[in-house]
This record gives sequence, structure tokens and C-alpha cells, in this order.
Amino acid sequence: MDRDVHVPVLLDEWVDALVLDPAGCYVDATFGRGGHSRAILRRLSERGRLLALDRDPEACRVGLELAKQDARFQIRHAPFARLDAELDALGWREVSGVGFDLGVSSPQVDDAARGFSFRRPGPLDMRMDPGAGEPLTRRLRGVSERELTRIIRELGGERFAGRIARAILRAVREGRMESTADLEHVCFHAVPRAARHGAIHPATRTFQALRMWVNDELGQLRDGILAAQRRLRRPGGRLVVIAFHSGEDRLVRDLVDQAVSPCVCPPQLPMCVCGRKPSMRWVRKKPLRPSEAEVMRNPRSRSARMRVAEAVA
Ligand SMILES: C[S@@+](CC[C@H](N)C(=O)[O-])C[C@H]1O[C@@H](n2cnc3c(N)ncnc32)[C@H](O)[C@@H]1O
Repeated sequence: MDRDVHVPVLLDEWVDALVLDPAGCYVDATFGRGGHSRAILRRLSERGRLLALDRDPEACRVGLELAKQDARFQIRHAPFARLDAELDALGWREVSGVGFDLGVSSPQVDDAARGFSFRRPGPLDMRMDPGAGEPLTRRLRGVSERELTRIIRELGGERFAGRIARAILRAVREGRMESTADLEHVCFHAVPRAARHGAIHPATRTFQALRMWVNDELGQLRDGILAAQRRLRRPGGRLVVIAFHSGEDRLVRDLVDQAVSPCVCPPQLPMCVCGRKPSMRWVRKKPLRPSEAEVMRNPRSRSARMRVAEAVA
């Protein structure tokens, strides 16, 4: 398959949930290779507008080509935590919908030089924006064993987090932690022999956790979702999120729940006295999963979960 292709996940479901007004202004917060953005543009009338964001310069390069062909579309090289500032710069006070398709794209994972995959030997980088922040090799030089254990356990759900963190930091001290192959090797040998040949490779969870840490993915998600909620048109503006990680999906659920039920009154009070009113309602609280047919066609869709919420007056 072409190295620069990303097969969009839950494409029709995502765009059906997001675009209710063909003349509206929309945001695709995670452009990638633009599969979801192009689907939005197909639904928009001449008056509709789409702003896309991506923190990856390679994604933006593709987006700039699309912008040359379609005057309704523009893209900014920015993390979605900066959504407010990007909308302010355009003079868009409110939008009809903001869509997220979280995680990394296939071209990012498939490019060995980006250092995302243990299946492709490359430098240990993992930044979605190689021009911002520090690569993983450098981050690992400044982290304690305790903190690294927490990261691998909480973000990766890895039960051997302590052993893996200890082994990683030993390799860092000994100058043996420069490439994705080094990290894969250390993870493989850090887990007990009996756990080395299970259903998933012993490095899978650690790679995911370290990628989320290097890119501050949960912090970005919190800021991005809160900004999106502030900027949705009331009533009716839509928030649609596809997550691939249970921690991300939980964070989206909790942030929307807080907007759906913001009341902080003690349950024993007969009526609300805090005065906080709901600003969102769930359209789809129970996450939608891809069909078996989609998972067969595109195995990377396997862990996707989509949630939909709407701004209320
Ligand atoms: C799963 S891909 C999106 C694929 C896209 N929907 C498509 O159809 O091609 C996720 C994209 O979001 C970008 N991304 C992830 N976190 C981001 C953030 N905090 N801010 C901006 N872009 C982000 C990644 O760089 C990647 O290109």
C-alpha cells in the first residue's frame, strides 16, 4: 500500500454525526491525510467552511495542497489545544461542529524516521511535531524510575511497568537506548519469559504509553475538548470524537459528562441551588464501534470508539 495513505475510520458515521448544516463552519481538529476533511467538504455547500488543524508538518503539507483546490478549506499547523486562538485569528466566534480522530496516522507510524513503531527500526523520537518539544531519547534522560513506571502503567496499562521502566533507565545510563529497536529489545527482555510470546508484542503497551507522554496527548485532549465545547454554536453545535485508547475515551466521556450534568449540589438537597446549567447533551454516549466488515477491511480500526455530543441553549 502507498506509504502516504491513511484509511479513515468510521468515516460515514463521523461525518453524518458532525455535519448537520451544509452552510456551517466546521473544524477537523486532526487532519492526518484528510480523509475525514474531504468527506466534510463533500457535504458542504458553497457557503460552508472547514478549518483543519494538525501538529504534524507532513499532514499540513497535504492539507495545503487541498486548500489550493478548494477555497472553502484551510489548514493550520497547530496543536488542537490552541483551537481558541486559531478560531480567534479567523474571526470565527462559533462553529457548527468540531471533529476529532485521535492518535497517529498510518503514514506517521509507517515512516521509520519518526520513531513511532518497533516494527521499523529508526531513531527514538515519537514527536508528532518534530519541530516542537524533545524527542523520546532526551525525555528518557530526565525522568525518574518512579515516574516512568507510572507513565507505562497508567498510559499503557502494562502490568510489568516497573520491570520495564527499570530496564529502560539502565539502558539509557549505559548508552543503549537510541533507537526503536533498542527500546523493543529492552521491553522484550524485561518481561518474564512466559509473557514474551503472547497475543501482543511485549513492547506494544510501552510504545503507546511513551508516545502519549512525549506528545502530552491527554493534556492536549483535555484542552482541545474544552475549547471545542466553548466554541460550539448553541444550540445544535456538534462534538464528534473517535478515540483509540481507553484513557482518551474515558477523558472525553468525563469532560462531556461534566458539561451535561454540571450541578455540584449535594444529592440530599431537594433542588439545585448551585445554578449550573447543562451546556451539552449526549447524542451518542454509548460509544459506536466499527462494524466487523470495517475491521476486516482496516484492522487499524479495531479499537476505535466514537462518541457524539451536542451543545444546548
Ligand atoms: C488518526 S490521524 C487522523 C486521520 C484523518 N482523520 C484522516 O482521515 O486522514 C490523527 C492525526 O491527528 C494529529 N494529531 C494528534 N494529536 C494532535 C493534536 N494535539 N493537535 C493537532 N493534531 C494532532 C496527528 O498528527 C495525526 O495526523
